[in-house]
Amino acid sequence: LKSSTKELLVNAEKSGYAVGAFNVYNLEGVEAVIAAAEAEKSPAILQVHPGALKLGGHPLVACCIYAAERASVPIAVQFDHGSSQQELLEALELGFNSIMVDGSHLPFEENISFTKHISSLAHASNIMVEAELGRLSGTEDDLTVEDYEARLTDMTQAEKFIDETGIDALAVCIGNVHGKYPASGPNLRLDLLKDLHELASKKGIALVLHGASGLPEELIKECAGAGVRKFNVNTEVRNAYLESLRKPSKDLVHVMSSAKDAMKAVVVEKMRLFGSSGRA
Ligand code: G3H
Ligand code: 13P
Ligand code: ZN
Ligand code: NA
Repeated sequence: LKSSTKELLVNAEKSGYAVGAFNVYNLEGVEAVIAAAEAEKSPAILQVHPGALKLGGHPLVACCIYAAERASVPIAVQFDHGSSQQELLEALELGFNSIMVDGSHLPFEENISFTKHISSLAHASNIMVEAELGRLSGTEDDLTVEDYEARLTDMTQAEKFIDETGIDALAVCIGNVHGKYPASGPNLRLDLLKDLHELASKKGIALVLHGASGLPEELIKECAGAGVRKFNVNTEVRNAYLESLRKPSKDLVHVMSSAKDAMKAVVVEKMRLFGSSGRA
């Protein structure tokens, strides 16, 4: 692949914006992200979740790589949320230019040794590594204050984690969640994000925010301003696709191209908020 995730994130850090990593499930998803990136002159990351890989297999990854290589703007391809050694080793063989090692379900010391092990294998193949510290979950409306705080990325642990694992990017937990935010709205710790960014810049790594779907526009801009260099977006793109498919039509090509356009519109909107438009 001509563009690497690392290069995209280093450029983003230099100029103070963020790159979107959009989860894709099929050809229309891949085309929607590429079309948005080319229209916006923006870099982007195509992201494949283990569930999507199970469904689309190697052809889905090959489709991402093929499209990335032919795009007129820098596109990287990442494996998202690899939580078992088996799936991560498989991902290392498939041609991704970065992987996310998700050991966030493990106790701290085990997360370190798991991430470090996979990291060294990935780096030997020139593959960039993102890993998560803290615990991010789906929306839970009734978290107690103690539960909320227990999930946040800890500064002292973060420094140790970065030093010992040799990762290139850190996915942080600052109150972000996958899927929808509670009706009361997101409660993000921007102060913690700024501290983590100071640490990350010192260590030469990038910060990643998962769960970007559902964040209000202003908050997205604030997060990019406070040091997020990669936003993961899944739910909003997927919902745009699903909603579009519900519109009645007998013409399959029309159904599929409308669905692609619906996804593209969401991706374009995010690229503008992330500040990556016009950076390619
Ligand atoms: O990492 C993202 C997973 O695909 C979960 O995404 O919150 O859209 O279900 P979701
Ligand atoms: P959302 O579904 O909330 O956008 O989260 C996406 C994500 O973090 C993928 O890794
Ligand atoms: Zn995620
Ligand atoms: Na979200």
